[in-house]
Amino acid sequence: MMKKELEKLKNEALHAIEQAINSKETEEIRIKFLSKKSELTQSMKQLGSLSKEERPAMGQFINSIKSSIITALKEKQTELEQNQLNQQLLEEDIDVTLPSVSIPVGSRHPLDVTVETIEDIFIGLGFQIKEGPEIETDYYNFEALNIPKHHPARDMQDSFYFTDDLLLRTHTSPVQARTLEQTEKNEAIRILCPGKVYRRDEDDATHSHQFMQIEGLVVDKNITLSDLKGTLEYFIKSYFGSERDIRLRPSFFPFTEPSVEVDVSCGLCQGKGCRTCKQTGWIEVLGAGMIHPNVLKAGGFDPNEVSGFAFGMGVERLTMLKEGIEDIRHFYTNDIRFLTQRLSEM
Ligand code: PHE
Repeated sequence: MMKKELEKLKNEALHAIEQAINSKETEEIRIKFLSKKSELTQSMKQLGSLSKEERPAMGQFINSIKSSIITALKEKQTELEQNQLNQQLLEEDIDVTLPSVSIPVGSRHPLDVTVETIEDIFIGLGFQIKEGPEIETDYYNFEALNIPKHHPARDMQDSFYFTDDLLLRTHTSPVQARTLEQTEKNEAIRILCPGKVYRRDEDDATHSHQFMQIEGLVVDKNITLSDLKGTLEYFIKSYFGSERDIRLRPSFFPFTEPSVEVDVSCGLCQGKGCRTCKQTGWIEVLGAGMIHPNVLKAGGFDPNEVSGFAFGMGVERLTMLKEGIEDIRHFYTNDIRFLTQRLSEM
């Protein structure tokens, strides 16, 4: 083959490569111009018929044509791949502003929200969080709290018994007795104990056989009723709002002396009197008092050296009052519409 013809072949190949629009075509071009049967390869075989002098130059020339075709093919291939990728990116364009598929997430239980809110308030006052067992002995649930067997106060808190001595705790107050016992004699204590309690009760809109309480216990030198009042006033204002007032009424608990019932001013009528507060302007929220000397003694403390106060409140009741929930059973029946409502503290 003559140089001229080879040059023509090269131009033909390069032109075809330029025109190619996909890898099928480039492959066809490769076969046509570079395969064994191609004119170019054939012309290599004819080199033998040339004279010794002509052969190397011609060989080089053919090789240079070959390599420029290979280079052009490679470049084309890269270009085609890049185009295909761009095309794909265009087609698969993602609109990041579209709303995503929503994944259902759970929400915290309203009672947990209340417990955590109240824990935060008391942790701020230096209290530590403590827990106790729900299955309790007669001793911690009653005896150590100055409620001997056959004491009439036991009637107020009938329970579920496993044996004569083992029951589901009727209040969180046994944690008081346990903590006193575990603490070095006359050492200062400041604890808050949330947990479930159980009573044999008729279930209705305001009563449940299982509910939650939060117990508080403070022991130190020179603790007085004014410490109790100040602490609870701070708590109530933090939880319900600074515009709310509290009042203490005399009451009775075997494990405190004196004992008080704490009322909060009605948030609906601002204390003027309405149906919610039964026209009194006040709503009862918790029981409290100065720790009875017998309770301190049972825990190994000396009532002549230290004193303290305790309080106990119902978590459901506090949540109901704050959020305007009218039936305690909403907390336990697992209606998702109720449970996913956002509470004011969430
Ligand atoms: N344990 C009492 C109850 O369940 C509440 C209480 C706790 C009262 C601590 C005084 C002190 O009724």
